[in-house]
Amino acid sequence: MAKIYVEGPVRLSGEVDIHGAKNGALPILAGTILCRGECILHNCPNLSDVETSLKILTHLGCECRREGQTVIVNAADMSGYEIPDALMREMRSSIVFLGAIVARMGRAKLSSPGGCELGPRPIDLHLAALRSLGATIQEDHGVLDCTTPALLNGTAISLSFPSVGATENIMLASATARGVTVIHNAAREPEISDLADFLNSAGAKIYGAGSDTIEIHGVAALHGTEHTVLPDRIAAATFLAAAAITRGSVVLHKVMPSHLMAVLSVFREAGCDVVASGKDLKLSAPAKLRRIPMVRTLVYPGFPTDAGPPVLAMQTLADGTSMFLENIFENRFKYVDELKRLGANIKVAGKVAVVEGVARLSGAPVECTDLRGGAALAVAALAASGVTEIDKIHHIDRGYDRFEESLRALGAKIKRE
Ligand code: UD1
Repeated sequence: MAKIYVEGPVRLSGEVDIHGAKNGALPILAGTILCRGECILHNCPNLSDVETSLKILTHLGCECRREGQTVIVNAADMSGYEIPDALMREMRSSIVFLGAIVARMGRAKLSSPGGCELGPRPIDLHLAALRSLGATIQEDHGVLDCTTPALLNGTAISLSFPSVGATENIMLASATARGVTVIHNAAREPEISDLADFLNSAGAKIYGAGSDTIEIHGVAALHGTEHTVLPDRIAAATFLAAAAITRGSVVLHKVMPSHLMAVLSVFREAGCDVVASGKDLKLSAPAKLRRIPMVRTLVYPGFPTDAGPPVLAMQTLADGTSMFLENIFENRFKYVDELKRLGANIKVAGKVAVVEGVARLSGAPVECTDLRGGAALAVAALAASGVTEIDKIHHIDRGYDRFEESLRALGAKIKRE
């Protein structure tokens, strides 16, 4: 198994392009199922979760090919409705395919995603919503068999929590349903707006995405289209944390600073100078990062749970005590034990992690426990003295395109073996 080796400490400087958003690309790839023609997706990052989505589409009978950062999907001749268990296990967020497949084929069969590295990952909101649109769902030994005799029927759905995946599944299921669907308490993440933009460019009629009420007027069918996936705000946050912990100065290109407001205010609180200009973000770190009294993860536009791990890693070398309150996922702090191997001083109690800044970190062998936790280890390793050997890097590959290359371009001593 390949490992990443990071030799520190370094000071990052230079410029880097941020790739397209994983969490934007995945629901859009599911959305191509609804389109009876070629969908050309630009800025579609080359990472393993996207590859898994393409394997799912290919398995369902869609034609898929990649040309650089562009992915082309044609679902005109789609014939399947089942996602094999092995592919569901590779990527639990493939539950977002459920709504699209049942809308297109009248049936969808896949294994339930169950628990994941961030704790139990319930899908009750997805299933209740699909049922209220008229789907029948049988659950047997962890397999979900979702059918609809005819078209799904638009209806009003109030989510008890603004789940990103459930909002996406409802949008996908109802884009070609009969009548109007209204989602109350919808997720407002930028990836939701991007999915709506993609679907609308393919002929859907979706209004209000980005607000907490989304209205979907069902249309008969969607056609092929061309779309550019939005920039990855979590990859951006990761590179900012990497620059900050190394007391560096970097410019990120191809970002959407307005999607990062809550993240940028946390970096400023830590003493970083952050300047946004168009699609560029420049960060210059202070000689010593300041403590951040409290980072609370929240739904958008709050501080994103996925940016928590790299920012927590950055605070391991800050002056004083920082506190992180995780409100979205149970079990998000598994990577903390690995950070401690580098010399970090962190205490976790339930939803809270208390990070006592230390004078130095030192390299050690560590293991990724999950995607963003893995990125956090790399961030810390850049500032740790000596070599850090990072194992189980398939987690990092799920969400970062050319991770080591990008860091190397900023001056990191990082290699994969
Ligand atoms: C998406 C992102 C993930 C991010 C998360 C929160 C993708 C592929 N993944 O995940 O990176 O961390 O948003 O911004 O886009 N919940 C339920 N029942 C449900 C659905 C969710 O209880 O049916 C709970 C979850 O357990 C969790 C919370 O709601 O506690 C947030 O989940 P959700 O917003 O659905 O996140 P995902 O779509 O899974």
